[in-house]
Amino acid sequence: MTGPRHFLNLADAGPEGLRTILAEARRRKSARAGRPKGAADDGAPLSGHVLAAIFEKPSTRTRLSFDLAMRQLGGSTITLAAQDLQLGRGETIEDTARVLSRFVDAVVIRAHAHADVAAFAQAAAIPVINGLTELSHPCQAVADLMTVEERLDRPVTGTRWAWLGDGNNVAHSLIEAAGLLGLALRLAVPEGYDPDPGVLATARARGGDVRVVRDPAAAVLGADVVVTDTWVSMGDSGAEARIRAMTPYQVNPMLMAAARPGAIFLHCLPAHRGKEVTDTVIDGPQSAVWDEAENRVHAQKAILLWLFGRL
Ligand code: CP
Ligand code: NVA
Repeated sequence: MTGPRHFLNLADAGPEGLRTILAEARRRKSARAGRPKGAADDGAPLSGHVLAAIFEKPSTRTRLSFDLAMRQLGGSTITLAAQDLQLGRGETIEDTARVLSRFVDAVVIRAHAHADVAAFAQAAAIPVINGLTELSHPCQAVADLMTVEERLDRPVTGTRWAWLGDGNNVAHSLIEAAGLLGLALRLAVPEGYDPDPGVLATARARGGDVRVVRDPAAAVLGADVVVTDTWVSMGDSGAEARIRAMTPYQVNPMLMAAARPGAIFLHCLPAHRGKEVTDTVIDGPQSAVWDEAENRVHAQKAILLWLFGRL
């Protein structure tokens, strides 16, 4: 007997699954253009389905986009702070997963430790989604890929991406995407803040053209997409040292000018204006960050449908 599908990393979907998810997200977005945000999609394909959304850390976009995604698919969401569950009083992750498997149809979890989400998925009889861990943020990467395909009106395969700043969870999922979908990725990261070597090795073993450099200008040269994220992620220590090390990696008009003309700027948000990005860039004509945020909803819907075997 095979278990349920999970979405803990992009590799869980594989290249084919990812392509299917991206196509479905774009199709659903255009099919419901102009509808009120809470109105259901035609056919309400997840009617009667319930998603539990569990958060160990704050969230605006992930929390709201999953709730909206379920509404638009005809289902509903129960959102929970992890500290309100018995988990905080010693009930095991595995027992919690077994119980939730009897109550709801899928779970999205934002957790400090990726290993906890993996343990939950291992014990669950229902699909489990990674809503961000210290290791990765696959749902964000799907929205990013979708946004770039939408802007360029072509598949991301063969496009050049530059990542600036911290080799963090969001960077890891884009590294995974580079391996799975064949995009070229240059990460300009200060020494001591490199991405996880295992994530890099896996992407390269899949044929991913991924390089870590120290010079921000070298990373953005010829880039179609310039991406950054906060220099201090939730749960990170050493904020002062991080900010000092990453200041030369700020995405500002000078850096954007070194990328391809019209290069797309992405940021998963929340942004720290004046730190990793200037107002001029995030509010400028090359910024796609508001589409990127909206696309979280469309991406989540396609991920959910893929998990339920509806694509
Ligand atoms: N980008 C993102 O995941 O945002 P939230 O932390 O607000 O969910
Ligand atoms: N890297 C950031 C992403 C927030 C959506 C963090 O983990 O805090």
